[in-house]
Amino acid sequence: MKTLAILHASQLVTLAGPKRPRVGKEMSELAIIRDGGMLIRDGKIDIVGASKEIGKNAGDAEVIDTGGRVVLPGFVDAHTHLVFAGNRLDDFEHRAHGESYEQIAAAGGGIWSTVEKTRAANEADLLAQAKKHAAWFLKCGTTTIEAKSGYGLSVEDELKILRVMRRLDQETPLEIVPTFLGAHAVPRELRESEYVDLVINEMLPRIASEKLAEFCDIFCERGYFDIEQSRRILTAATKLGFKLRAHIDQLTNSGGAKLAAELGATTADHLEKTDQEGIAALKSANVQPVLLPGSVYALGSTSYPRAREMIDAGLAVVIATDFNPGSSPTVSMPMILSLACTQMKMSPAEAITAATVNAAYSLNRGDKIGSLEPGKRANFSIFDCEDYRELAYWFGFSQVHSVYVRGKRAH
Ligand code: NIG
Ligand code: FE
Repeated sequence: MKTLAILHASQLVTLAGPKRPRVGKEMSELAIIRDGGMLIRDGKIDIVGASKEIGKNAGDAEVIDTGGRVVLPGFVDAHTHLVFAGNRLDDFEHRAHGESYEQIAAAGGGIWSTVEKTRAANEADLLAQAKKHAAWFLKCGTTTIEAKSGYGLSVEDELKILRVMRRLDQETPLEIVPTFLGAHAVPRELRESEYVDLVINEMLPRIASEKLAEFCDIFCERGYFDIEQSRRILTAATKLGFKLRAHIDQLTNSGGAKLAAELGATTADHLEKTDQEGIAALKSANVQPVLLPGSVYALGSTSYPRAREMIDAGLAVVIATDFNPGSSPTVSMPMILSLACTQMKMSPAEAITAATVNAAYSLNRGDKIGSLEPGKRANFSIFDCEDYRELAYWFGFSQVHSVYVRGKRAH
């Protein structure tokens, strides 16, 4: 593999810093190098510094002159529902006519309609659709995503989705971290208690033995899984070695933040309806909040999570797309940066920290990705702008110039 010398970034946004997720004021410290550069060897970052210094060490490296553009670590999208069949255009149109997410689900749309299509699709079809979406992520500057199952809701269909994720990770440059979300909804053919038993007794052990997922997630919400069912499933998952993420307080405040803290979850996601008490509970166990403003926006709601209070409480906030066909049809982390700043009052620097290094730690990969530091993977993106704040400021179009994964051009 050829050594690369990346030169003349107007801002090389390194996010170098302590080897842990960033909290409080640290979220505003991006460790920017002006006229910065990097030497990349064997797909890893070897030296980071001023262009002049990198130039001196470049030897016969292939030079990539970024021409005064901004360079950033690849975005790490810590919450997506990547693998599904079809779309939810009808739901979208119904919402435009004023129907709510819950009303549409009750009328036969919602998660269940995607489950029916996903069950009917074979592995090859799912893989083809997911590859198209994987290319979209790369195009927007994202190099690693977490991906959840959850549109199968039977043993075979959940396994099918998780196998598609494994193949995507192997066959595309996008890095995939798999999460099992069997408890996304109760399938129509089973009673709630029967399905909870199926998840615990059959799905979790099978997925653990085939090593198809690192995390276990649950949709803890009125009409989906209540606190007691969530506790049972997540406790069983912990015993099998899964780490935990959970959809909490998206539509109603169910006390899920306390449960996430009690079980030592790695992340609690959504949190649109979480109050001060819930924030304090998350802090007591240092659970990382994963905020998903794309789903608030796309559902036409205004109830964004309380990002400022979470940052002030010392939580290591993460932002992600929640890419899925129902509530958040976007792969664009730049769009999420814009929403984080305009709707949740995060600063551009805080939003970038939440979309890179903090997200990497929430996926247990803080030692490998999320910042531009020697020894880490050479996952980075070059943007057609001069100031990192432009990424959150201009919205609705792509400023991505090029994207690299492990030192290889991926877009
Ligand atoms: O994160 N809330 C549950 N899951 C998704 C929505 C899934 C869907 O509507 O298909 C979410 O918003
Ligand atoms: Fe989600």
